[in-house]
Amino acid sequence: MLKIITVDGPSGVGKGTLCERLCQMTGFHFLDSGAIYRSLAYGVILEKLSLDHEADLVALAASLPVQFQTGKIYYTQDDITQQIRNEEVAAMASQVAAIPSVRAALLQRQKDFAQPPGLVADGRDMGTVVFPQADLKLFLTASAQIRAERRVNQLKNQGLTANIDQIISDIEARDERDRNRSVAPLIPADDAFVIDTTSLNIEQVVEKSTEIMQQRA
Ligand code: C5P
Repeated sequence: MLKIITVDGPSGVGKGTLCERLCQMTGFHFLDSGAIYRSLAYGVILEKLSLDHEADLVALAASLPVQFQTGKIYYTQDDITQQIRNEEVAAMASQVAAIPSVRAALLQRQKDFAQPPGLVADGRDMGTVVFPQADLKLFLTASAQIRAERRVNQLKNQGLTANIDQIISDIEARDERDRNRSVAPLIPADDAFVIDTTSLNIEQVVEKSTEIMQQRA
Protein backbone atom coordinates (compact mmCIF):
# COMPACT_ATOMS: atom_id res chain seq x y z
CA MET A 1 0.00 0.00 0.00
CA LEU A 2 1.22 3.49 -0.84
CA LYS A 3 2.70 5.20 2.22
CA ILE A 4 3.59 8.85 2.58
CA ILE A 5 6.04 10.41 5.03
CA THR A 6 6.23 14.21 5.10
CA VAL A 7 9.21 16.16 6.44
CA ASP A 8 8.59 19.89 6.78
CA GLY A 9 10.56 22.71 8.37
CA PRO A 10 12.61 25.83 7.64
CA SER A 11 15.72 26.02 5.49
CA GLY A 12 18.93 24.44 6.72
CA VAL A 13 17.24 22.36 9.38
CA GLY A 14 18.48 19.01 8.02
CA LYS A 15 15.37 17.84 6.16
CA GLY A 16 17.31 16.84 3.05
CA THR A 17 19.72 14.57 4.91
CA LEU A 18 16.94 13.02 6.98
CA CYS A 19 14.85 12.41 3.85
CA GLU A 20 17.78 10.76 2.11
CA ARG A 21 18.20 8.41 5.07
CA LEU A 22 14.47 7.69 5.25
CA CYS A 23 14.45 6.87 1.52
CA GLN A 24 17.40 4.48 1.98
CA MET A 25 15.62 2.78 4.88
CA THR A 26 12.22 2.44 3.20
CA GLY A 27 13.01 2.30 -0.53
CA PHE A 28 10.43 5.06 -1.06
CA HIS A 29 10.56 7.74 -3.77
CA PHE A 30 11.67 11.26 -2.87
CA LEU A 31 10.01 14.61 -3.52
CA ASP A 32 12.23 17.68 -3.02
CA SER A 33 9.46 20.26 -3.32
CA GLY A 34 11.91 23.10 -2.59
CA ALA A 35 13.76 22.11 -5.78
CA ILE A 36 10.52 22.60 -7.72
CA TYR A 37 10.13 26.14 -6.31
CA ARG A 38 13.82 26.78 -6.92
CA SER A 39 13.53 25.56 -10.54
CA LEU A 40 10.61 27.92 -11.05
CA ALA A 41 12.70 30.75 -9.58
CA TYR A 42 15.54 29.81 -11.93
CA GLY A 43 13.12 30.07 -14.86
CA VAL A 44 11.80 33.43 -13.63
CA ILE A 45 15.35 34.81 -13.48
CA LEU A 46 16.30 33.25 -16.85
CA GLU A 47 13.20 34.58 -18.62
CA LYS A 48 13.50 37.92 -16.78
CA LEU A 49 9.87 37.68 -15.65
CA SER A 50 8.48 40.33 -13.35
CA LEU A 51 7.05 39.38 -9.95
CA ASP A 52 4.26 41.87 -10.74
CA HIS A 53 3.05 39.85 -13.75
CA GLU A 54 1.30 37.01 -11.97
CA ALA A 55 -0.15 35.47 -15.15
CA ASP A 56 3.35 34.97 -16.59
CA LEU A 57 4.53 33.31 -13.37
CA VAL A 58 1.52 30.99 -13.29
CA ALA A 59 1.98 30.10 -16.97
CA LEU A 60 5.61 29.16 -16.35
CA ALA A 61 4.70 27.19 -13.18
CA ALA A 62 2.01 25.27 -15.08
CA SER A 63 4.40 24.16 -17.81
CA LEU A 64 7.67 24.19 -15.89
CA PRO A 65 10.24 22.40 -18.12
CA VAL A 66 11.97 20.69 -15.19
CA GLN A 67 12.91 17.04 -14.88
CA PHE A 68 14.32 15.05 -11.98
CA GLN A 69 16.62 12.24 -13.04
CA THR A 70 18.70 10.13 -10.64
CA GLY A 71 19.76 12.93 -8.35
CA LYS A 72 20.06 15.54 -11.12
CA ILE A 73 17.70 18.36 -12.00
CA TYR A 74 17.30 19.52 -15.61
CA TYR A 75 15.63 22.70 -16.86
CA THR A 76 14.92 21.93 -20.53
CA GLN A 77 18.27 20.23 -21.38
CA ASP A 78 20.38 22.14 -18.86
CA ASP A 79 21.69 20.56 -15.68
CA ILE A 80 20.74 23.10 -12.98
CA THR A 81 21.37 20.84 -9.97
CA GLN A 82 24.06 23.14 -8.51
CA GLN A 83 22.86 26.48 -9.88
CA ILE A 84 19.55 26.40 -8.04
CA ARG A 85 21.34 26.14 -4.67
CA ASN A 86 22.55 29.74 -4.59
CA GLU A 87 21.02 32.45 -2.42
CA GLU A 88 19.69 34.51 -5.36
CA VAL A 89 17.57 31.56 -6.50
CA ALA A 90 16.52 30.76 -2.91
CA ALA A 91 15.35 34.33 -2.30
CA MET A 92 13.43 34.37 -5.60
CA ALA A 93 11.91 30.96 -4.77
CA SER A 94 10.49 32.23 -1.49
CA GLN A 95 9.01 35.26 -3.26
CA VAL A 96 7.26 33.29 -6.02
CA ALA A 97 6.22 30.69 -3.44
CA ALA A 98 4.23 33.36 -1.59
CA ILE A 99 1.85 33.78 -4.57
CA PRO A 100 -1.24 31.56 -4.08
CA SER A 101 -1.94 31.00 -7.81
CA VAL A 102 1.65 29.90 -8.36
CA ARG A 103 1.39 27.37 -5.53
CA ALA A 104 -1.89 26.09 -6.97
CA ALA A 105 -0.25 25.61 -10.38
CA LEU A 106 2.46 23.42 -8.81
CA LEU A 107 0.18 21.33 -6.59
CA GLN A 108 -0.67 18.42 -8.90
CA ARG A 109 2.91 18.12 -10.04
CA GLN A 110 3.94 17.49 -6.43
CA LYS A 111 1.07 15.05 -5.78
CA ASP A 112 2.15 13.02 -8.82
CA PHE A 113 5.34 12.01 -6.99
CA ALA A 114 3.25 9.75 -4.73
CA GLN A 115 3.89 6.38 -6.40
CA PRO A 116 4.17 2.87 -4.90
CA PRO A 117 5.77 1.74 -2.69
CA GLY A 118 5.73 5.17 -1.05
CA LEU A 119 7.03 8.72 -0.84
CA VAL A 120 9.19 10.81 1.43
CA ALA A 121 8.21 14.45 0.78
CA ASP A 122 10.47 17.33 1.84
CA GLY A 123 9.14 20.89 2.06
CA ARG A 124 7.20 23.50 3.97
CA ASP A 125 3.58 22.45 3.42
CA MET A 126 3.86 18.74 2.66
CA GLY A 127 1.91 17.70 5.78
CA THR A 128 -0.54 20.60 5.77
CA VAL A 129 -1.49 21.11 2.10
CA VAL A 130 0.04 18.71 -0.42
CA PHE A 131 -0.32 15.43 1.50
CA PRO A 132 -2.70 16.08 4.42
CA GLN A 133 -3.47 12.33 4.39
CA ALA A 134 0.20 11.36 5.01
CA ASP A 135 0.84 8.35 7.23
CA LEU A 136 3.61 10.07 9.16
CA LYS A 137 4.34 13.79 9.47
CA LEU A 138 7.61 15.11 10.85
CA PHE A 139 8.39 18.80 11.38
CA LEU A 140 12.00 19.77 12.09
CA THR A 141 13.05 22.97 13.84
CA ALA A 142 16.40 24.49 14.91
CA SER A 143 17.62 27.96 15.85
CA ALA A 144 18.62 30.28 12.97
CA GLN A 145 22.14 30.47 14.46
CA ILE A 146 22.71 26.72 14.32
CA ARG A 147 21.18 26.43 10.84
CA ALA A 148 23.54 29.18 9.64
CA GLU A 149 26.53 27.41 11.23
CA ARG A 150 25.61 24.19 9.45
CA ARG A 151 25.37 26.08 6.15
CA VAL A 152 28.79 27.67 6.70
CA ASN A 153 30.29 24.23 7.35
CA GLN A 154 28.63 22.88 4.22
CA LEU A 155 30.14 25.73 2.17
CA LYS A 156 33.55 25.22 3.81
CA ASN A 157 33.44 21.55 2.82
CA GLN A 158 32.88 22.68 -0.75
CA GLY A 159 35.96 24.91 -0.47
CA LEU A 160 33.88 28.10 -0.31
CA THR A 161 33.97 30.89 2.27
CA ALA A 162 30.91 32.45 3.84
CA ASN A 163 29.89 35.31 6.07
CA ILE A 164 27.87 33.90 8.96
CA ASP A 165 26.09 37.19 9.73
CA GLN A 166 24.96 37.46 6.11
CA ILE A 167 23.77 33.85 6.15
CA ILE A 168 21.81 34.36 9.39
CA SER A 169 20.11 37.42 7.97
CA ASP A 170 19.28 35.61 4.67
CA ILE A 171 17.85 32.66 6.63
CA GLU A 172 15.79 34.93 8.88
CA ALA A 173 14.42 36.91 5.91
CA ARG A 174 13.38 33.70 4.14
CA ASP A 175 11.86 32.20 7.32
CA GLU A 176 9.89 35.39 7.88
CA ARG A 177 8.45 35.28 4.33
CA ASP A 178 7.72 31.52 4.53
CA ARG A 179 6.02 31.78 7.95
CA ASN A 180 3.94 34.86 7.29
CA ARG A 181 2.57 34.24 3.82
CA SER A 182 -1.19 33.93 3.43
CA VAL A 183 -1.21 30.46 1.81
CA ALA A 184 0.56 27.34 3.02
CA PRO A 185 2.64 29.14 5.64
CA LEU A 186 5.45 27.27 7.32
CA ILE A 187 3.67 25.71 10.31
CA PRO A 188 3.51 22.14 11.63
CA ALA A 189 0.37 20.16 10.77
CA ASP A 190 -1.78 19.50 13.88
CA ASP A 191 -0.82 15.83 13.69
CA ALA A 192 2.91 16.38 13.00
CA PHE A 193 5.71 15.25 15.33
CA VAL A 194 7.97 18.24 15.98
CA ILE A 195 11.68 17.47 16.41
CA ASP A 196 13.99 20.24 17.60
CA THR A 197 17.34 19.43 15.98
CA THR A 198 19.30 22.32 17.55
CA SER A 199 21.37 20.05 19.76
CA LEU A 200 21.05 16.82 17.76
CA ASN A 201 23.35 15.41 15.11
CA ILE A 202 21.96 13.68 12.04
CA GLU A 203 22.26 10.21 13.57
CA GLN A 204 20.17 11.34 16.55
CA VAL A 205 17.55 12.90 14.26
CA VAL A 206 17.35 9.67 12.23
CA GLU A 207 17.09 7.66 15.46
CA LYS A 208 14.28 9.85 16.81
CA SER A 209 12.40 9.69 13.49
CA THR A 210 12.80 5.91 13.36
CA GLU A 211 11.43 5.60 16.90
CA ILE A 212 8.39 7.65 15.92
CA MET A 213 7.93 5.53 12.76
CA GLN A 214 8.09 2.32 14.77
CA GLN A 215 5.60 3.59 17.34
CA ARG A 216 3.22 4.48 14.50
CA ALA A 217 3.67 1.22 12.55
O1 C5P B 1 13.61 23.86 0.78
P1 C5P B 1 14.28 24.93 -0.04
O2 C5P B 1 15.18 25.82 0.76
O3 C5P B 1 14.95 24.36 -1.23
O4 C5P B 1 13.08 25.84 -0.58
C1 C5P B 1 13.31 27.07 -1.22
C2 C5P B 1 12.09 27.97 -1.00
O5 C5P B 1 10.96 27.40 -1.68
C3 C5P B 1 11.66 28.10 0.46
O6 C5P B 1 12.30 29.16 1.14
C4 C5P B 1 10.17 28.34 0.34
O7 C5P B 1 9.88 29.70 0.16
C5 C5P B 1 9.78 27.63 -0.94
N1 C5P B 1 9.10 26.37 -0.66
C6 C5P B 1 7.75 26.42 -0.37
N2 C5P B 1 7.05 25.27 -0.18
C7 C5P B 1 7.66 24.09 -0.23
C8 C5P B 1 9.05 24.01 -0.48
C9 C5P B 1 9.75 25.18 -0.68
O8 C5P B 1 7.17 27.49 -0.29
N3 C5P B 1 6.94 23.00 -0.07
